[in-house]
Amino acid sequence: MNPRHYLSFLDLSGDETRALLQRAIELKQQLKSGGHHDDLLRGKTLGMIFEKSSTRTRVSFEVGMQQLGGNALFLSPRDTQLGRGEPIEDTARVLSRMVDCVMIRTYEHEKIELFAKHSSVPVINGLTDLEHPAQLLADLQTYVEHRGDIRGKRVAWIGDGNNMCHSYMYAARQLDFQLVAACPEGYDPEPSVVETTQEHFELTRDARAAAEGADLVVTDVWASMGQEQEKSARRRAFSGFFVDADLMRLANDDALFMHCLPAHREEEVSTDVLEGPQSVVWDEAENRLHAQKALLEFLITLNAS
Ligand code: CP
Ligand code: NVA
Repeated sequence: MNPRHYLSFLDLSGDETRALLQRAIELKQQLKSGGHHDDLLRGKTLGMIFEKSSTRTRVSFEVGMQQLGGNALFLSPRDTQLGRGEPIEDTARVLSRMVDCVMIRTYEHEKIELFAKHSSVPVINGLTDLEHPAQLLADLQTYVEHRGDIRGKRVAWIGDGNNMCHSYMYAARQLDFQLVAACPEGYDPEPSVVETTQEHFELTRDARAAAEGADLVVTDVWASMGQEQEKSARRRAFSGFFVDADLMRLANDDALFMHCLPAHREEEVSTDVLEGPQSVVWDEAENRLHAQKALLEFLITLNAS
C-alpha cells in the first residue's frame, strides 16, 4: 500500500487538519505540564534531507522525534551521494528501507514528488519553492490557541506570492477562511494555485486594501532562499508592501501578526510590529515543534498499522 505523504497542505482534508491541530495543542499541554510521550514513536527514525539552510525546521523535527521516543538523522547533499548525482529514485528506495519517515527541504517541488513516488514510507515537505505546509500547521495552531477557529476569518498576506503564500491559499480552501494577498506586479502566486483556491482567494496590488478588516496579517521575506541575487530588484518592487503600525491599524483591533521567520526588521516588517503586542511570532516558531509532532505521529502510526 502507498503511504500517506505530506507534500502539500492539500494532502490532509480539512477535518484531518483540524484533528491534527487539536492533537498538537494536546501534546503541547502535556509537555508543558511535565508529561512525557516518548512511547509514541519509540524506535522510529526520521531521515531529514536539507538542500537549503534551516534553524526552526531542523531543530523542531529533530527534537520532536526525540520527545516522541524516536530519533532523527540530518542528511545534507554535501555529505551524501545525493550531492554526487545518485538519482532521487534510488535514494528514496534505499532510505525508505531503513527509516520510518523522510523530511525533505529542497528547491523544485517536483523533486519531493519524485522522491515520494519511490518511497515506501511517508515523506514530509520541509519547504520547497512551491509550498511550506509544515509551517502552516504551526501558524494555524497559533491562531487557534489565541483566537479559536479560523473558519470565516479574513487573512491578509502582504508581499511575495511565494511558497508560504501558496500554502496559505491552500489552507484557506481546506479550513474555509478568506485569504487576501497583496503582491506587487510580477510577484503573483502560481496560476495553478490560484485556480485551485479561487473561492477563498483574492489578489490586490494594494497592501492597505488587503489589511483592511483583517483578523490576521502575515508577511515573509522579500527574497526567499535561492533568490539571493534578486535582492535589490525585489527591494525596489516591494517598497509599498511594508508591514508597519500604520498598516496594522487598518486591520481589526484584535488582529494578530505572523511571520514564519527568519525576519528582516525594517525591510518587510517594522521592529515595533514584530516585537509588538499583536505579534505572535515566537509562539508560531515554537508551535513548529508541537504541530510536527502531531504530524509525525499521524503519518508514521498510520503507515505502521
Ligand atoms: N520558518 C522556517 O522554516 O524556518 P527555518 O528556515 O529556520 O527552518
Ligand atoms: N519564503 C521563505 C521561507 C523561509 C522559511 C523561503 O523560502 O526562503
